[in-house]
Amino acid sequence: MCGIVGYIGNKKAEPILIEGLTKLEYRGYDSAGLTILEKENFKTIKNKGRVKQLSEITSQENLVGTIGIAHTRWATHGKPSSTNSHPHNDSSNTFSIVHNGIIENYQELRKFLGENGYQFLSETDTEVIPNLIHYYFSKENEHSENTFLKAVNIATKDLKGSFAIGVLCTHFPDIMIAVRKDSPLVIGKGDGENFISSDIPAYLSFTHQFYFLKDNEFAVISKDSIDFYDTQLTKINKEISQIDWDATSAEKNGYEDFMLKEIYEQPNSIRETIGNHLSLNTPCQFDELNFSKEFLSQIHKIYIVACGTAMYAGLTAKTMLENICEINTEVDVASEFRYRNPLINKNTLCIFITQSGETADTIAALKLAKSKGATTLAVSNVEGSSITREADFVTYTHAGPEIAVASTKAYTSQITLLGILVIYFAETLGKNTKILEDMKKSILELPAKTEQLLSDITEIKNFAHEVYQVKDVFFLGRGLDYNSSVEGSLKLKEISYIHSEAFYSGELKHGPIALIEKDTLVVSVLTVQDLMDKSISNIQEVITRGAKTLIITDKILENSNFTKIIKVPETNQFLTPILSIIPLQLFAYYISKEKGLDVDKPRNLAKSVTVE
Ligand code: F6R
Repeated sequence: MCGIVGYIGNKKAEPILIEGLTKLEYRGYDSAGLTILEKENFKTIKNKGRVKQLSEITSQENLVGTIGIAHTRWATHGKPSSTNSHPHNDSSNTFSIVHNGIIENYQELRKFLGENGYQFLSETDTEVIPNLIHYYFSKENEHSENTFLKAVNIATKDLKGSFAIGVLCTHFPDIMIAVRKDSPLVIGKGDGENFISSDIPAYLSFTHQFYFLKDNEFAVISKDSIDFYDTQLTKINKEISQIDWDATSAEKNGYEDFMLKEIYEQPNSIRETIGNHLSLNTPCQFDELNFSKEFLSQIHKIYIVACGTAMYAGLTAKTMLENICEINTEVDVASEFRYRNPLINKNTLCIFITQSGETADTIAALKLAKSKGATTLAVSNVEGSSITREADFVTYTHAGPEIAVASTKAYTSQITLLGILVIYFAETLGKNTKILEDMKKSILELPAKTEQLLSDITEIKNFAHEVYQVKDVFFLGRGLDYNSSVEGSLKLKEISYIHSEAFYSGELKHGPIALIEKDTLVVSVLTVQDLMDKSISNIQEVITRGAKTLIITDKILENSNFTKIIKVPETNQFLTPILSIIPLQLFAYYISKEKGLDVDKPRNLAKSVTVE
């Protein structure tokens, strides 16, 4: 949601900013813009539409400035339009800013500034920020880099809500200031040039060295220096992080779309997730956790909290934790958990799963759990992301950057890592179950089985071609198969815009079967052996009512009257959701392609949901 980039160096800023915005397109946006500071004047160009359209305009402008900021906007306050796009400049054109987040008290601030002679051009909450900075800056008798920083500092104290901001000032063409609170912002350190961006992939082809700002920390950035300050404007030291993601991992590498590339990356991303955590005949290792038997024995309750796909990965972890570790576990949607006063005490462990590490609801839920005395563990894919700075413990999925809005490799890596974590808990607790060895062996086999699954995808592609015009799709499953159904259904609706819902198969007769009519498509996942007969009976009930059926299974189903069966390799029962989901990811992908849609950037969706 909203992407920020900024550049300061010796090169022309415009193409570098456009490149950064292009890399952040995956976050979701509806308009884009940039400001270049040239000869102490702003050149601000904004446009409703794609970054490519913006670049067609900016490339005609002969912009030679070597400092600039740019933004992709996902509309919250005010419709998508060039006026509402960022950057926003103050009434006197002295300050230009890009902002990600929401200013909750903007109406109050707008009124105050209006009374003080400031005028507003847009409907946005953001436009108060440059004006507020100007208001405080103009109160200073002397104007120096210090007063610029001071004005930004005082202005941000007035802001309620969330923000990541990059600011330029016409009086100081050699610096930009960045600050964040509850919205992501990273600072890339180059050689004679520096960068700001909402996310690491924007500038991976320029640098692998990044600083991560904490809430309410300021950075004053020139081409040769980056200085950090706290809210008292006392200089602070920050450690630089070396990010080893390959620059090409954020490129399509010959694939038509990022989503397809990421689906195909799964053998490798799962391998990376396994990393050094697991090997046969030795206990699982999590150096970053180092939980003792005493610690785990006093955990009476685990909450797994997340949003969307990450929450569905949590459903499978719950089954594993309850069956293998015998710890009572609840899975909760972060946006509900944070407001429902959950029963938490010091014997509660709360696990927060988030690919981006920036999901506003998940971070807020973590803060709540922490304030109530729980131990908090974040499972994230992005090093240095906001949640990793809040949690007591952090472990990473190491799936590599996920660019497509629809999550694929992050999901399979999340379940893989959670599976290993469960084995680690069980071993630490001294549970001597036979299943642990089988799970270990099966996890190590996952990369090869995933590869096998992806080696021939013709059947699912052809089936997608046959049925892509359907209007409604229902997904059915029991137990772990329900988890795959609900995730498969989410994948389909988000990128194909086809109405789709998932139900527990056993719930069918309690209402949903009323929706089944001739040629309704019903997708069912069938891997849980103990529930197989019951699930098959449910499918027969929809077939009797004329439904077409797509079955994803690891069993040989003979003499069946199903429309299409897609076979996946067998694995340990707890890991079946990792393999069952892959044909469903491909099904959603090919249906979206058949419909000619933008697979990577579905309408209305953002990759990183940084506001409530
Ligand atoms: C769906 C999808 C979303 C995310 C959700 C949480 O394909 O990607 O449902 O899973 O927005 O995002 P993270 O994991 O970044 O917290």
